[in-house]
Amino acid sequence: ASFLRELNPNRVEATKREALLENPGFGRVFTDHMVTIRYSEGRGWYDAKVVAHGPFSFDPATLVLHYAQEIFEGMKAYRLPDGGAALFRPDANARRFRNSAERLAMPALPEPLFVDSVRELVRVDREWIPRTDGSALYLRPFMIATEAVLGMKPSPDYLYCVVATPVGSYFKGGASAVTLWVSENFTRAAPGGTGDAKCGGNYAASLAAQAEAIREGCDQVVFLDAVERRWVEELGGMNVFFVFADGSIQTPPLTGTILPGITRASLITLARDLGLTVREEPYAIDQWQADAQRGKLVEAFACGTAAVVTPIGKVKGRTHEFTIGDGNLGLVTARLKSALLDIQNGRAPDHYGWLD
Ligand code: COI
Repeated sequence: ASFLRELNPNRVEATKREALLENPGFGRVFTDHMVTIRYSEGRGWYDAKVVAHGPFSFDPATLVLHYAQEIFEGMKAYRLPDGGAALFRPDANARRFRNSAERLAMPALPEPLFVDSVRELVRVDREWIPRTDGSALYLRPFMIATEAVLGMKPSPDYLYCVVATPVGSYFKGGASAVTLWVSENFTRAAPGGTGDAKCGGNYAASLAAQAEAIREGCDQVVFLDAVERRWVEELGGMNVFFVFADGSIQTPPLTGTILPGITRASLITLARDLGLTVREEPYAIDQWQADAQRGKLVEAFACGTAAVVTPIGKVKGRTHEFTIGDGNLGLVTARLKSALLDIQNGRAPDHYGWLD
């Protein structure tokens, strides 16, 4: 695909940009450009371009504002030791974006066009990829329904857009262990729902539970399944893994209510190749507590593009309270985290062909 370039005449000055890259936080600072592509029924995808990052103007009746017909992706561009840049498994994001589109009754963006759009933005804004260890350029492709009508039906028109933001650690506490709040009042996804689609609505629905977690002095909410309220599913915006004293690891299976994380899938592959036994099997919250207390479970961690690999130190809830291991980063978690980061940052050979 070719993108018409309408370059930003008011780019952030180099010295200011370098200062912003020192300590970017998460998702507050944006690069100079964004990619937009339009879609309309009959015409298909058209008007692919790179423009200055800036506001849109919409009719108040625009469908996405009312019925949340919206999907998104999260991925990162990493700075390589030779100064170049690489995306991590962008084809996997493209495929998931297409699956999410199907679930939300939206048109499929051709996967090569998705990957090209992200590459094009990284090319134009490559100076924005941070150099500091643990930082990256986070890319946020998304698609919204743009017809201005209040009828409850799929929109015939869409806007696809990619914005980019240099990021450091997702959590305020950096890489240190987080405390989870077990949500008993709220669930994230029910069978037949949109749990395995990456749509904004899932995240909106998690916010009240996350606010409860914060009120309880925790960092993140952990959701249980909606049917039995027993099986651990995932956190507000990241998957979860358990590490046992026998060296095996476990993560909940993808049965439709869990977001199929690309970091999750990559860690499963890495763990198996490091010789660890990996199970994709349900794990009950009561079992988690019992195993942690008996020392059968020794580590747990959250993972995602934003969260990378974040150790879970404690779990609290109305009827649960336990510490995992000594409450800090464990050995297996640390090993998996560096195996992943070493590939992403070009420090280890990319045997899997994950960098693009
Ligand atoms: C990501 O990890 O990229 C996500 O999209 C999750 C979000 C909570 C930032």
